[in-house]
Amino acid sequence: MSTDEKMAALLTEGRVFPPPDSFVENANARDKTLYENAEKDYEGFWADQAKELHWFRPWDKVLEWEVPFSKWFVGGKTNICYNCVDRHIKGALRNKAAIIWEGEAPEQQRVLTYWDLYREVNKFADVLKNQFKIDKGDRVTIYMPMIPELVIAMLAVVRIGAAHSIIFGGFSPESIKDRILDSQSKVVITADGGYRNGQVLQLKRNVDEALAGNDTPVTDVIVVRNMQYHMDIEINEDRDSWYHRVMRKANHFVPAAELDSEDLAFLLYTSGTTGKPKGIMHTTGGYLTGVHYSTKYVFDLKPEDVFWCTADIGWITGHSYITYGPLSNGATVVMYEGAPSYPDKDRFWHIIEKYGVTVFYTAPTAIRTFMRWGEKFPQRRNLSTLRLLGTVGEPINPEAWMWYYKNIGHERCPVVDTWWQTETGAIMVAPLPGVIPTKPGSATLPLPGYDVAVVDKDGHPVKRGEGGLLVVRKPWPSMLRGIYGDPDRYYETYWKKFGNLYFTGDGAKIDRDGYLWLLGRVDDVINVSGHRIGTMEVESACVDFPSVSEAAVIGIPHEIKGQAIVAFVTIKDGVAHTLDLIEEIESHVVEKIGAIARPEKIFITAELPKTRSGKIMRRLLRDIANGKVLGDTTTLADPKVVEELKQKYESEESS
Ligand code: PRX
Repeated sequence: MSTDEKMAALLTEGRVFPPPDSFVENANARDKTLYENAEKDYEGFWADQAKELHWFRPWDKVLEWEVPFSKWFVGGKTNICYNCVDRHIKGALRNKAAIIWEGEAPEQQRVLTYWDLYREVNKFADVLKNQFKIDKGDRVTIYMPMIPELVIAMLAVVRIGAAHSIIFGGFSPESIKDRILDSQSKVVITADGGYRNGQVLQLKRNVDEALAGNDTPVTDVIVVRNMQYHMDIEINEDRDSWYHRVMRKANHFVPAAELDSEDLAFLLYTSGTTGKPKGIMHTTGGYLTGVHYSTKYVFDLKPEDVFWCTADIGWITGHSYITYGPLSNGATVVMYEGAPSYPDKDRFWHIIEKYGVTVFYTAPTAIRTFMRWGEKFPQRRNLSTLRLLGTVGEPINPEAWMWYYKNIGHERCPVVDTWWQTETGAIMVAPLPGVIPTKPGSATLPLPGYDVAVVDKDGHPVKRGEGGLLVVRKPWPSMLRGIYGDPDRYYETYWKKFGNLYFTGDGAKIDRDGYLWLLGRVDDVINVSGHRIGTMEVESACVDFPSVSEAAVIGIPHEIKGQAIVAFVTIKDGVAHTLDLIEEIESHVVEKIGAIARPEKIFITAELPKTRSGKIMRRLLRDIANGKVLGDTTTLADPKVVEELKQKYESEESS
């Protein structure tokens, strides 16, 4: 769907769903007090949220702000791990389930209480600190399946004041290598393998490949034994250690480091408009305040809730809403290792029934997949424990929202559409479910404490009913602190456009009630199944294939994934244009970046449309792939190229 069509579709969306009375009665936020408090005293409001956490030393100053760098809770000392674990074992939560883990094989289940988590995290913190000499400030790369040891590892890293860089298990050895080099990690934590859709993920083998060559900063690899049927993996005695062996030698207690609020907590790499992923930096006190607050109010968490966020911890959603937000709130989280269709298409609903999940958070792409599979799968299971539903990652079309509301929430559960980014650290735009009426397809309003606006290209707010660019006008506690090792790129990417406004890269429309309707990215980033992929990254991977000379990559609407990747490539003279070649280029992209970047379609062409100065006109390629009338072609060096391309593309599509 193009932006125009999306806007038109939204105009017809008039349904409004006020929070049900029964929900409002018990909601953590029942009225507008939070909005009013944040409006009255911005810093005071955030200080109140931060006070919910444990601080070893109080801060001297709430905020120091010099565009584009913010410092929050300056002078304060805290520790994320202490807040997620130690704080709870001193009281009634000691024996409460922190993590209920379900393996992909249906009979696999593990439960870790807060005390269990405390013990394992302490031991692993000792392993990192004393056996592997990880110090405060060091970076540790984690490349793991969705198993409890992943949460243990991340908590142990932040416990001792190091910073983690978690890489999603679907990334290729090349991508791992780039991220390790950029972060200069000394240690990698991985597993022999992982399960996904009945298949085995070769995690250790990918790490081995990533570390081949002598430019690696990595001295040690810690390997969790995860495969039930032991996998044949290579162990390099000088570099690799089994997790269970090093844990046997561990001490049982390592105090949580008293960290500065602004100490680095983690890096998370995300795609931008250039080929090189950006290491987004998040720090300690502000990040935790942002995720703690949003978990409490957006997901309305109560002590008896069972919260399930289906994201992978390799993405920001998993960092913030599987690990840090819920655990700092003392919640019980469900963590699932595998695919939604394994062994059958009712697996998610089965898990909800099995554990009595009360709050469920997933992505529009998953919801659209469930829609396609049909109602009969959720109907097989008892979903009556659910009381709140959430979505994240991309705009949700009203039809998918309604399907979710009816078939999963049985018209009883508010649906919170949550807008945010890797960079924002925490949810920024979403309804408070006991206060704000929802509209299918809208993320509704900024949460209390966030100054989000829609502006025109000069930075002036647009009128209600109009569209523009989504920006943030005030710094917020969980905002990124920069791009690792590249302060200039940080400024260029987010601040240069407006000078004093944070530019999100998203387009949005604001309706008559002030509700926000997200319209997708306006830059060269494609959102495939809620995951950001830079067009440049895919182009570089295509061009890296020996017989490709040029490539232009665009996103096209896709019914399930939201967007899909289409690559237009030109090949070198003398190379035969065969189906095999297309497959080989596809596999090459997967090898370079990972399966998430596999192009939906590769179209081989003799020439790409270019301006006289040689710039590829991606806009016209988008028109072609979307079957639209070609936009302005007057700046093209040779307008014939695009006409011919359009005809060929269309004849290939119809054949
Ligand atoms: O375009 C927006 C889209 O996802 C982008 C952020 O991607 P990432 O950093 O990978 O984080 C995804 C999970 C937080 C945004 O710039 N996006 C995310 N949530 C929504 C959304 N678009 C519309 N509605 C949402 N609820």
